[in-house]
Amino acid sequence: MGPGNRPREETVIETVVPAPEDAKSLRDIAPALDLEAEIARLRREKNAVILAHYYQDGDIQDLADFVGDSLDLARAAAGTAADTIVFCGVRFMAEVAKIVNPTKTVLLPDANAGCSLEEACRPNAFRAFREAHPDHVAITYINCSAEVKALSDIIVTSANAEHIVRQIPADKPILFSPDRHLGAYVMRRTGRPMTLWNGICIVHEQFSERELLALKARHPRAKITAHPECPEGILAHADHVGSTRNMLRYVLESPDKEFIVATEKHLLHQMQKAAPDKTVIAAPGADGSCDCARCPYMALNTLEKLYLALVNGAPRIDMPEDLRRRAYLPLQRMLDMSPPATQAMRRQPIGVAAE
Ligand code: 13P
Ligand code: SF4
Repeated sequence: MGPGNRPREETVIETVVPAPEDAKSLRDIAPALDLEAEIARLRREKNAVILAHYYQDGDIQDLADFVGDSLDLARAAAGTAADTIVFCGVRFMAEVAKIVNPTKTVLLPDANAGCSLEEACRPNAFRAFREAHPDHVAITYINCSAEVKALSDIIVTSANAEHIVRQIPADKPILFSPDRHLGAYVMRRTGRPMTLWNGICIVHEQFSERELLALKARHPRAKITAHPECPEGILAHADHVGSTRNMLRYVLESPDKEFIVATEKHLLHQMQKAAPDKTVIAAPGADGSCDCARCPYMALNTLEKLYLALVNGAPRIDMPEDLRRRAYLPLQRMLDMSPPATQAMRRQPIGVAAE
């Protein structure tokens, strides 16, 4: 199922309020408009902060107030003093920003920016999964809908999943959803058996072990850094496994000069910016190219749609207060159980509009 075809079962609660019929659209943007300058002006006028994930296009990363992984973005959203959060990422991330900030306006440039993991884990099926395992604690990856969060006990990200699983009492059985590769990786790291949901990320699933080994043979000194959403066959060859922020930090702090990077390709933009003296190479897919390592959902957000979101005040995240409260609890448990915040890539205090 691709972006724009958001699958919805009857009970799923819609959390995105679309732009009204008479809202400004792409057709209304004059070709000569200086988008960056207009976005900066609107950001000041509306006391807005722009948060961006590392998988966004480089032009969006470059004008964001804060660029981060899912955990740092959740923390940044929780800590902002701005009135409006423009979330340049996917829907579940913008939902998290709203769940931790109910009084703020949260905008998502494209209402259809979903995630294959969210789509693979519908609330009704997840509820049945929980009911079939009543004595289990449900640990759920943040890449899921607000409704699935509300049905979970603890949320995790790729940056803290292992740390949180290690805190669960040994006699407590665990359900881990929805990413089976991240779940299997945490099982291998902790030795802890878990019952896994069978979801995957379509971007990380397409990396080719054969092509990765061929690339490594051509760059024998390159270190391989991989995201734990990759299948085991890719992770088995990695010198380092971590969340996007930790992959970036590995490249910055390592004395090595050449790296093969197995995650969505736009993380390389930040790596090249932060470490221009290092060579970063995108891991290949089955056809030997890296171009398939592009998230089609993240790609729906553009500078034009970011500008329109600020003009229109939409698409906007909204949800029933009861759902928000229920989804907040497992997210708060995650923040309480996470390792202390580490230095993130912050250009300025969150909530201070850029000049
Ligand atoms: P992190 O940035 O938390 O590593 O997550 C990667 C991802 O797939 C987000 O959708
Ligand atoms: Fe979802 Fe994968 Fe895209 Fe992340 S990269 S938003 S996990 S589809």
